[in-house]
Amino acid sequence: MAEFHSKIRTIQWSDNCSKMVDQTLFPYEYKYVDIKGGQEMFDAIRNMIVRGAPAIGIAGAHGIVLYAMEIAKETSSREEFVNKLLEKADYMKTSRPTAVNLMWAVEKQKEIIKNSKADINGIIEELKQNGIKLENEDIEINKKIGDYGAEVVPKGATILTHCNAGALATVGYGTALGVVRSAYANDNTIQVFADETRPRQQGARITTLELTMDGIPTTLITDGMCSYFMKKGMIDIVVVGADRIAANGDTANKIGTYTVAIAAKYHNVPFYIAAPLSTIDTSIKTGDEIIIEERSREEVTHINGKTICADGVNIINPGFDVTPHELIAGIITEVGILRPNYNESIKKAFEK
Ligand code: MRU
Repeated sequence: MAEFHSKIRTIQWSDNCSKMVDQTLFPYEYKYVDIKGGQEMFDAIRNMIVRGAPAIGIAGAHGIVLYAMEIAKETSSREEFVNKLLEKADYMKTSRPTAVNLMWAVEKQKEIIKNSKADINGIIEELKQNGIKLENEDIEINKKIGDYGAEVVPKGATILTHCNAGALATVGYGTALGVVRSAYANDNTIQVFADETRPRQQGARITTLELTMDGIPTTLITDGMCSYFMKKGMIDIVVVGADRIAANGDTANKIGTYTVAIAAKYHNVPFYIAAPLSTIDTSIKTGDEIIIEERSREEVTHINGKTICADGVNIINPGFDVTPHELIAGIITEVGILRPNYNESIKKAFEK
């Protein structure tokens, strides 16, 4: 997998389809798949071939183009085309419920569908161009997040991260791992501790791969170990991504993040979120309003196809948890680091 590095493009519109890295195959294989249909994209998002909030958003935007191309083959009536496409856009939003970047990107496409004056082919072209624009902007935004975030990483720091908020969770560069990359570019004595991130092991399977391919010193730990290392003074800062941030700063991220944040508070380790403004959902006041995705029992009962528990045991598998804003030292965005009071700083960030 020598070709894997931080310049990876996780998802790209090309040759009238969406090309994406199949993330279910890591760390064994590095393979691109072509997603050619709307339902195929819905399934790719739901089955986590593409994952990570910003990457899911771009996938959703591409999915609308794919649906548009399909509907255009079924009807020549512009009105019918628009109505059917708007219905499919709302359906696409249900593929995964927590990452708000999906709703954000699909809404951007819906604005085009509703406001365009073009004919059917013209609308399809506008949707394609918008998808490509969102892709390119994502990388630029992540680099800005990385550069702002690098300012709060102490010299020689050990950074703890949870899940994968890297190049592979975005179009490229990453949010939390964008901060790591920018910090490492300034100071090659920093290192990373990566939580394994059960049940799907994005930390072990994806974060360690990204970082070691970039030559950034990385230590893999299991999820329960973080407070042990914090107590020993071995963690200087926590930086994680986000799937949805409420207007008051409460933040949904991969299950287990909340535990890390509590441990960080207890041990006086600053806990940061790194996320684009598109992850902030100002329509909800607090994290209590965030819908938490429930995933399959097999994700918990099995590892690599083999059962790890008694047959028939009860399983609950929430994909995300919500870290209360009181535990968050700052939210690193493309317009700067937002600090408490988040109701105010978030409001100001959207005015910039
Ligand atoms: O279930 P996943 O793998 O899509 O969850 C990903 C995370 O929770 C990430 O930390 C989050 O999306 C931030 S990605 C930049």
